[in-house]
Amino acid sequence: MKLADRLNDFDAYLGTAMNLILTKMKEQGKDVINLGLGDPDVIPPEHTRRSLAEACYAPDSHHYPSYYSPMPLKEAIAAWYEQQYEVRCDADTEVLPLLGSADGLFHIHTCLLDVGDIALVPDPCYPAYIAGVKIAGGVVESIPLLRENHFLPDLDSIPPEIAKAAKMIWINYPNNPTAAHADILFYQRLAEWARQFDVAVVSDNPYSEICFDGYRAPSFLQVAGSKEVGVEFNSLSKSFNACGWRVGFMVGNRDIVAALTKIKSHSDRGMFYPLQVAARAALTGPNEFMQERNAMYLQRRDVVVEGLRKCGINVNSPKGTFYIWAPLPEGKENSKEWCIKVLDAIAVWMIPGSMYGRHGEGYFRVALTHPAARLNEAMERLEAYLRL
Ligand SMILES: Cc1ncc(COP(=O)(O)O)c(C=O)c1O
Repeated sequence: MKLADRLNDFDAYLGTAMNLILTKMKEQGKDVINLGLGDPDVIPPEHTRRSLAEACYAPDSHHYPSYYSPMPLKEAIAAWYEQQYEVRCDADTEVLPLLGSADGLFHIHTCLLDVGDIALVPDPCYPAYIAGVKIAGGVVESIPLLRENHFLPDLDSIPPEIAKAAKMIWINYPNNPTAAHADILFYQRLAEWARQFDVAVVSDNPYSEICFDGYRAPSFLQVAGSKEVGVEFNSLSKSFNACGWRVGFMVGNRDIVAALTKIKSHSDRGMFYPLQVAARAALTGPNEFMQERNAMYLQRRDVVVEGLRKCGINVNSPKGTFYIWAPLPEGKENSKEWCIKVLDAIAVWMIPGSMYGRHGEGYFRVALTHPAARLNEAMERLEAYLRL
């Protein structure tokens, strides 16, 4: 079969292949602890699951999504942005439901890039950004995220000729994989920079509701005039423990919303109606569960940070996301080699930093998607392994 050359330009999503390997290890009787999973081990609130079930049972719920007008979810997304951030959006023209934010963050490249156009992409980053740029025929220009800059991009270090040529810039705070956070001053500076160079800002904010230590993640759209220069993605996956639902959304610039709507009118025709009903229930319903859930992640964060520090690993304690981004133990340089050795030796899987880009090398990522006792066990195994 003659497949397209572009398939050689990017790697398949790592999670799928790793899950197969780890399942095989489990079948062989190994007690594997998978600290790679970015999928909460807790479930969506009861009232949202009930809404989903009831809407599924309704006989009139199974048509093409465009049959239902107005779409029940759009208004709820606009109301949520106003409630969370005091950002006002027009539900018809500035809001677009997505089949998981992955749907939008893949197709947005087709809206913004012609073949050969430059996209500025942080390194390290969520790998789908790079695959999306390449599949659209764009060119990735990396912006390093360095520990000394708190894993924020140094906009002033982007050469003006690259900035002028670039069509879009990816931003993601609270960040996967570094767990770094941004404040509103960073977004203000970013909006100014984007206006100066006429670059579209694409902010990916799926960890917005998972914050600790009094920190609240802002939205890029809180900056005055931001809708002229960009959009923001968000999702129910992490905030509402609903990764499997595949419900996300994009909010912001109306030209980009119209462009993505046009593409999606061909690619998927919209979201299953009962999911729209359930997502509306999530966004408009009680959200006290989030406090309890975040307290749980906080306890887990502290278990892992303390465990890694006991191992002699000098790790930051993050204010957001359910990840820990840790430097390799002293003397180790190749994250892939080290993570595979650890998996073989103690059946604990952590993701090598190099999987997220060149500047991710020298780090590994731990996900807090297991009960504290299990995380503690993983840390004890690691400490014993490193003592050998
Ligand atoms: C930074 C980032 N963006 C987007 C996604 C995709 O989220 P969704 O489940 O909404 O497609 C993830 C998932 O891990 C992520 O970490």
